[in-house]
Amino acid sequence: MKLQVVNEVSALPVVSLVPAGYSAGSSALSKLEAARIAGEAHRRARLSIQNIIQPGMTLREIGEHIENCTRTLIGVGYNGGIGFPTGLSLNACAAHDTPNPKTADRVLQENDVLKIDIGTHLDGHIVDSAFTVAFKPEYANLLLAARDSVYECLKIAGPDTPLKDIGEKAEEVIRSYEVVIDGKTCGVRPVLNLNGHTIEQYKIHGGKYVPITKRSGNRDRMVEGEFYAIETFATTGNGYVREQGDCSHYALVNKNARSSLEGGRSLLEYLNRTFSTLPFCKRYIGPEVKSPDAYLAHLVKQGAVEQYPPLFDVPGSYVAQFEHTLYINSSGIEVMSKGEDY
Ligand code: CO
Ligand code: CO
Repeated sequence: MKLQVVNEVSALPVVSLVPAGYSAGSSALSKLEAARIAGEAHRRARLSIQNIIQPGMTLREIGEHIENCTRTLIGVGYNGGIGFPTGLSLNACAAHDTPNPKTADRVLQENDVLKIDIGTHLDGHIVDSAFTVAFKPEYANLLLAARDSVYECLKIAGPDTPLKDIGEKAEEVIRSYEVVIDGKTCGVRPVLNLNGHTIEQYKIHGGKYVPITKRSGNRDRMVEGEFYAIETFATTGNGYVREQGDCSHYALVNKNARSSLEGGRSLLEYLNRTFSTLPFCKRYIGPEVKSPDAYLAHLVKQGAVEQYPPLFDVPGSYVAQFEHTLYINSSGIEVMSKGEDY
């Protein structure tokens, strides 16, 4: 593949990574080939935002920049290759946040800790990978705790690896760090109720979970042919997250659901056609959908759509996250999202 990375002026990618003549769903590519392209798109999209991100940008600008990159780099299939809403979770919020259309936009501050969780996909083969941005050096160790723990977990991942071993390693590495914030030394711990996961086609959470704590009781092992997202969360808080605030993340969980309301039926049809079972956010719903908030709430109540509200540790805490997507092959792993940055 001969490709140019970014246009120097706009810092936006300028070419598609998808082979000419390729059409989504044609199964011309193996799942591994498709995931490799999604992985390359991920690297380029995140490089592009890393080049320009700074305090003063709004979260919406950051999210849209990344999403525009993905639409340019992939641009085919459901939601143009966007695997799930761009996670832009600040400080005590660990995951599942992204700006909603009508809410006031938040400006990134010098002392923020921002988790950027990006999903790309080709033909439903999703690459899920996250990193954390902080501008103040005092957060460096918190970020390192999360990043280093992912790296150490990747070293032991492979066919037959017990998932509980990954959890043990993640906690051991995370707890070996401490941070000094405002002159106060503070321990770092993993978030007990967050974990990595398997990934299946069009299904971001495939059904097996990868713990990031020691006493998980998990009895599963990694199996050749599976895709995993290994993600760790290091926090200065309690190590336990709760759902809180304005929900932005949703996914259609029942493709055959019905609705008694005409608006519900037309939204179901739209979601099926636009996202299939890939997670989406309110910003991705086009202007042709009438009263999306009301009908979305209706479909959630019907059980057709699931909602994933933001997840917060205690107020005043800081959470860092890193995440890679890997494939389990016969001899070890292939890290689909590995780049020079992380
Ligand atoms: Co993720
Ligand atoms: Co994930």
